[in-house]
Amino acid sequence: MRIFVAGGRGQVGVPLADLLRSQGHEVVVGSRADGVDVLTGAGLGAALAGVEVVVDVLNTTETEAGAATAFFRGTTERLLAAEQSAGVRHHVLLSIVGADRALANGYYAGKVAGEDAVRGGDVPFSIVRATQFVEFVPTLADWLTVDGAVLAARTLLQPVPLADVVDLLARTATGRPSGTTTDLAGPQAVPLDELLRRALADDPREVRTVQGQSLGAESTDALVPLGEHLTGSRRG
Ligand SMILES: NC(=O)c1ccc[n+]([C@@H]2O[C@H](COP(=O)([O-])OP(=O)(O)OC[C@H]3O[C@@H](n4cnc5c(N)ncnc54)[C@H](OP(=O)(O)O)[C@@H]3O)[C@@H](O)[C@H]2O)c1
Repeated sequence: MRIFVAGGRGQVGVPLADLLRSQGHEVVVGSRADGVDVLTGAGLGAALAGVEVVVDVLNTTETEAGAATAFFRGTTERLLAAEQSAGVRHHVLLSIVGADRALANGYYAGKVAGEDAVRGGDVPFSIVRATQFVEFVPTLADWLTVDGAVLAARTLLQPVPLADVVDLLARTATGRPSGTTTDLAGPQAVPLDELLRRALADDPREVRTVQGQSLGAESTDALVPLGEHLTGSRRG
C-alpha cells in the first residue's frame, strides 16, 4: 500500500514511517524539509500521486487559539482537497483525548478544528485520539515552569507510550476507515502534580500543587478517556 505520512519527519512521523515500511508498505514522507508545505499546498499534489492512505501527524508550535486553528484547519482542508483530486480512499488523523474538554487551551482548540474539518470532509476517515505521550511529560514540565518552579494542578493525565500510539496508527492506516474516533490511553490516570514530581525526581525544580486545572482542562477528568477506549500494551 502507498501511504503518505504528513509530518513524517516528526516525533510520531519517523517511527510511524519506519513501522509501515517494515510491514512492506511504500511510504511517502511529507514535511517542509521534503519540499511539501501542507499549509500552502506546495508540492502536495505531486506527493499524493498513487497514494491510497494519508496519515496526518503534522504539528505546530502555535499555542494561541486563532493561530493553532488556522494551522490545523488549514492543513486539514488542503490535505482533503488534494486527496480528493488524487483519489485517496482513507484519511487518518492523530488528535488528543479530551481536546474538546480543554478549549481554554488554544492548541487543543486548534486540534478540535482539525477534527471537525475531517468529519465534515468528503474523504472516508478514522480519527485516533491519544492521551499525552510518556515521552512528552518532560516538555509539559517545561511549559508549566514559572520562575524556576513547576506549577501543576491535580488534573488527571493518563500518559501512553509513543510506541503504542505508533502501533495503533499503523493498524488504523492499513485497515478500513472507521468514520469514527478511537481513544487510546496509558494504563493509569495520575494527577499531573504527582506525575511531574515523579518525572522530576532528579531535577532541581520544585513541583507546586496549584488550585483549579492545568492545560486548559475544564474538569479534573477532562484529559482522560471517559468512555470506551483502548489501553496501550506497554508500561510507561
Ligand atoms: N505530544 C503529545 O503528547 C501528543 C499526544 C496526542 C497527540 N499528539 C499529536 O501528535 C501529532 C504529531 O506530533 P509530533 O510531536 O510528532 O510533532 P513534531 O515532532 O513537531 O513533528 C511535526 C511534523 O510536522 C511537519 N510540519 C510542520 N508544519 C508543516 C507544514 N506546513 N507542511 C508540512 N509539514 C509540516 C514537520 O516537518 P517540517 O518542519 O520539516 O515541515 C514535522 O515533520 C500532533 O498533531 C500532536 O497534536 C501529541
